[in-house]
Amino acid sequence: MQTHAITADPLYEFAADVRAGLTEPRQKELPSKYLYDNVGSALFEVISVLPEYGLTRADERLLRRHASDIVDRIARPVIVAELGSGSGKKTRWILEALCRRQQTYYCPIEISATALAMCQRELSDLESISIVGFEREYLDGLLEVAARREDDEHLLVLFLGSTIGNFDRPAGTKFLREVRRILQPGDALLLGTDLEKPIPQLIEAYDDPLGVTAAFNLNLLARINRELDGDFDLQQFEHVARFNSEARSVEMHVRSKRKQTVAIPEADLSVTFLEGETIWTESSHKYSRHELLRIAMATGFRCQAQWIDDEWPFAENLFIAE
Ligand code: AVI
Repeated sequence: MQTHAITADPLYEFAADVRAGLTEPRQKELPSKYLYDNVGSALFEVISVLPEYGLTRADERLLRRHASDIVDRIARPVIVAELGSGSGKKTRWILEALCRRQQTYYCPIEISATALAMCQRELSDLESISIVGFEREYLDGLLEVAARREDDEHLLVLFLGSTIGNFDRPAGTKFLREVRRILQPGDALLLGTDLEKPIPQLIEAYDDPLGVTAAFNLNLLARINRELDGDFDLQQFEHVARFNSEARSVEMHVRSKRKQTVAIPEADLSVTFLEGETIWTESSHKYSRHELLRIAMATGFRCQAQWIDDEWPFAENLFIAE
């Protein structure tokens, strides 16, 4: 796989974001993208096979069952760009279906070089495929892929796994509009979205009895210790998952068990936590299937088809650029 890499200083950016998030006056917060260092990504792979967390399996089932139907509905020849490829496992079904119909160009876009390498290993056995990885932020990578296309080629953008759910609703809409601006009429976006379900089921999915999600969340503090020389005592913080009914999202927080002060020298920061105070680390928004039709219209797409899993409410939405 050919890879286009970036040169920005990620540690400097991490330190700046930690400093900004932990000095927020009302609610301390950290951007959820920092959950995914090597340890966090490995823990997320484990989360995705937990019985309580059906999201990833639903996504994979839908893609496996409906790949041919999905591919038959899009204009070809097509270049596939995936926003956040992860391991590439669930993309296999779409790529296999396409490779049976055309020589396929697949461009995974990822900020993690490790994930890009994993994705290449996972998909290297496919025939009739060329993989060009982009180590970039999503929209920068997509712009580059779009700039390389020939006049007769369409784009299929994959945004799977309900990653859109980790944006708040206005930011998600804004992001989809920006994706649409890069596309041409007739191009396609396959959007995976987790749907609303009973609150106790959602809380179990984000607070599993084995404690894997807790480790995934607390690893963010461990990462600050490793990379920014912080002195978080992990025993003094705990994982919390709660449902925000107004936002229709599951929020993850880490909660301080007592009053304490933490030093983070590489972020030039010393921060005091009250007993019970939390750091908000992630939100996972849940959608209704009708809302997705409205989101398509509001962002310059038409929802051409939706596939819903019958075991775990989850939708693959095929949006066509108008
Ligand atoms: C990647 N993302 C869609 C997952 C989610 O469900 O929001 C991340 C995750 N957080 C806790 N468990 C899984």
